[in-house]
Amino acid sequence: MKIKIVEVGLRDGLQNEKTVLPTEVKREIADRLITAGIRHLEVTSFVHPKWVPQLADAEQLAKELSKRPAVTYRALVPNRKGLERALETAVDEFAVFMSASETHNRKNINKGIDGTFPVLAEVVELARERGKKVRGYVSTVFGCPYEGDVPVSQVIKVCERLFEMGVYEVSLGDTIGVATPVQVKAVLKELIKHFPADRLAGHFHDTRGTGLANAYVAMEMGITTLDASFGGMGGCPYAPGAAGNLATEDLVYLLHGMGVETGINLDALCETSLWVEKRLGKPLPSKVLRSYAGS
Ligand code: HMG
Ligand code: MG
Repeated sequence: MKIKIVEVGLRDGLQNEKTVLPTEVKREIADRLITAGIRHLEVTSFVHPKWVPQLADAEQLAKELSKRPAVTYRALVPNRKGLERALETAVDEFAVFMSASETHNRKNINKGIDGTFPVLAEVVELARERGKKVRGYVSTVFGCPYEGDVPVSQVIKVCERLFEMGVYEVSLGDTIGVATPVQVKAVLKELIKHFPADRLAGHFHDTRGTGLANAYVAMEMGITTLDASFGGMGGCPYAPGAAGNLATEDLVYLLHGMGVETGINLDALCETSLWVEKRLGKPLPSKVLRSYAGS
């Protein structure tokens, strides 16, 4: 089995931190993560700086990324304006995002679901004209902080529209970390009837400690791309109660225990997270990291 890990800590992680890290520190984190073996790196987000001030330096950071073969730099773009900003940088690949639930979509990107489709369709079309691949994210797949349960039919509808636009993959977000393994299995069973498993990714937040179990079940269901965040940082500023992503350290430990080669040096990854902890002035929640720090 081969699992692709998409490291989202510089984006999903830092967007939720009170401390705003200087651009050069972010750049050094990117370099350290790559040295540790990360190959798919979401570096920032070209959203409105007023909405997410932590990532207001998106251009500055993304213009000066050190080019390394086999490394894909990724960034979120919410609309045409975001894409135009991102196209001026060294980012290789973009991601559009929306929610399966109406209220979270409105809180997060200030538009209803139906009004979001044409905005994202334009982004995907223009990006592809420029030879860029685009990923789609669907948030609140397993539950919404405002609406509670989200019908699978709604998730399918949003995924269908994103694939029609031309995204190559949809990452399924458990935005507030409410999913449990039985639910993940049931939802994926339905989704896989409509979309090939290798075009879906799992984006689990570990708010309630189920992130790793959910990732394991997703792999059993045929998912081979998983998002994770170094140290277990993360959260959506427009989803109350959202906490850290599944920690990359915890995922890598699990995968190595399963005999799955990741190309990631776990010690080097933990050292990177410890280095970031010093900059943030607080410990990060990854279980494997805490064990490494205490050893
Ligand atoms: P809006 O205020 O509705 O935008 O924001 P607008 O189109 O009405 O434009 C208003 C002004 O903003 C205009 O400027 C635009 O030019 C400007 P003015 O003419 O008034 O001077 N503007 C921009 N400026 C810079 N960059 C842009 C941009 N767009 C418009 N891209 C918008 C709409 C989407 C921009 C806003 O709601 C936003 O930035 N939201 C970001 C929310 C966010 O980043 N959330 C977290 C990421 S999603 C997530 O974490 C979930 C995920 O991890 C998966 C999971 O866990 O589920 C992916
Ligand atoms: Mg997220």
